[in-house]
Amino acid sequence: MSEFQPGDLLDHYRIDGLVARSGMASIFRGIDTRDGRAVAIKIPHAEMEADPVLYDRFKREEEIGKKLVHPGVVRVLNDEERSRRYMVLEWVDGRLLRQILNEQKPLPQERAIRITLALCKALDYIHSQGVVHRDLKPENIMVGPDDQVKLIDFGIAANAGSRRLTFAKLTEAMGTPDYISPEQVKGKRGDARSDVYSLGVMFYEMLTGKVPFTGPNPFVIMNERLLNHPIPPREVNPDISPELQEIIYRALERDPNKRYPNAHEFALDLEHPEKVGVADRLEIKNWRQKRSPLLRRILFYIMLALIPVVVFGLMLLIAHQK
Ligand SMILES: Nc1ncnc2c1ncn2[C@@H]1O[C@H](COP(=O)(O)OP(=O)(O)O)[C@@H](O)[C@H]1O
Ligand SMILES: [Mg+2]
Repeated sequence: MSEFQPGDLLDHYRIDGLVARSGMASIFRGIDTRDGRAVAIKIPHAEMEADPVLYDRFKREEEIGKKLVHPGVVRVLNDEERSRRYMVLEWVDGRLLRQILNEQKPLPQERAIRITLALCKALDYIHSQGVVHRDLKPENIMVGPDDQVKLIDFGIAANAGSRRLTFAKLTEAMGTPDYISPEQVKGKRGDARSDVYSLGVMFYEMLTGKVPFTGPNPFVIMNERLLNHPIPPREVNPDISPELQEIIYRALERDPNKRYPNAHEFALDLEHPEKVGVADRLEIKNWRQKRSPLLRRILFYIMLALIPVVVFGLMLLIAHQK
């Protein structure tokens, strides 16, 4: 495996040190020797380059990254000429939203709102460029000084309309199911509204200190998401205003057609919570009533078993009438 040591040169870049290693790639801090600028260098693992699916993912990440230019999105600075495949990104001085949440949960309300608003703006931009992130989670968001945010990791992002990524590939690339939208759970590709949902989950987490759906394994979590309602945010943290709670519910609507249609609408409500009309929501009263997938399946089979009985009954009836 090709590992780099501090001081090694890779084309125009001097490697400073390893920052992170995931299943897909290693991320190094580096310096552009031409101008002394700090960069992040993402180098796919050798095994990955041999796998067409993963290799494709890396190529797409690069293509998508290159067209996105916005303060809320990590800049891709690739040179045309490179001796091997890797990505050069602007160096982001900051911490992962994950680290921030590990240290402080819940976040102070103004901070949670500030970060979520900044994320809305970044999302609104990428969506305007026809890109859906699809893997929004605190591990893929960096927060800098003054709470500027940067979206990173467009590894499973897609251009709107592209159908290349199947559900199997998506789940394989996926880590935690905590932030994924219900339509993605059901195998849909997802669109801008799926990113809105994931941001809604993070907003819930920032304000309450926990994610809305939990369970002992990913399948339980995904089922909960499809069938049940989370603990109302105000039950977890009474400091949350009814308006903020309403905003969370609008972002977390299970049906994408009822959800905020885009990140811009989400931002408008965050900027003017006083204008948000609070709906009388059943899911606030009935959140304790749980439906289990097992119960649904049993009912389904009972109905199925009843069909021949009913048909037989009808036939008897007809026979008797003759
Ligand atoms: N531009 C960057 N500046 C600083 N650190 C970064 C940068 N990009 C990624 N990192 C660090 O590397 C980690 C993994 O990067 P990411 O792009 O999410 O890779 P993966 O596809 O392996 O998840 C991030 O969580 C972050 O800590
Ligand atoms: Mg990542």
